[in-house]
Amino acid sequence: MTIRIPLIAGNWKMFQTCDEAVDVATNLVRLVGDAKDREVMIAPPYTALFPVAKVLKESPVLLGAQNLFWKKEGAYTGEISAAMLASAGCCYVIIGHSERRQYFNETDETVNRRLQAAIKGSLIPVLCVGESEKERNDGKTFSVLDKQIKIGLKDFFAKDLEKLVVAYEPVWAIGTGKTATSSQAQEAHEFLRLLLKKGFGTRIAEETRILYGGSVKPENIVELMSMRDVDGALVGGASLEVDSFTEIIKRTSETKR
Ligand code: PGA
Repeated sequence: MTIRIPLIAGNWKMFQTCDEAVDVATNLVRLVGDAKDREVMIAPPYTALFPVAKVLKESPVLLGAQNLFWKKEGAYTGEISAAMLASAGCCYVIIGHSERRQYFNETDETVNRRLQAAIKGSLIPVLCVGESEKERNDGKTFSVLDKQIKIGLKDFFAKDLEKLVVAYEPVWAIGTGKTATSSQAQEAHEFLRLLLKKGFGTRIAEETRILYGGSVKPENIVELMSMRDVDGALVGGASLEVDSFTEIIKRTSETKR
């Protein structure tokens, strides 16, 4: 059986000044310790990446960014490249978050281009997918996920996706306090793994970590992590407070699957 090391990732969105970010990261490093049974990543805003990288340097906590642009460099005011993120200390990058899709016109096609740039730039992408409330109510959850994965991962080969992380984030659960039930999460994760199997073979499907995201808190992480295909969490609000985030990390380590 393939062992997938759980990943708990914190998406700080547009929160934290440099000083605040350094403060939270410093406390996080002090509190999480070094356990081999899970991985921890935080994705602060761009301005805080480099100062936070210095804090994380000797620690097992990894650094991620919240987006990137696919061009290497050029006259693209306001954008940031894979090489810039890597030079700031990032090893992960979140791609296709629903807030990017919703507020910044991101599409499955642009997600695909960003993924290509991330992989070429040796960053590990966390590809976010998930249906809206209306899509779920209309019975379209699977067809939405199918399209997001097929177009998002178009023209990739299995060898490109060895480190890929997928995050299932139902839009209706993000920042709403409404978490998917563990069986809703398991059903979607199982379906996503099946899509990976069809597209890229058994090994990629079995090794890819599929995170759940959407109102993850210390109170629901154990139940979610007890599901066979839930391999960690992408945490928004609860990752901004060091106490709740470390509690989520601690409970993940304690969950038996
Ligand atoms: P939330 O956000 O935990 O605040 O719901 C999750 C996310 O957007 O990744």
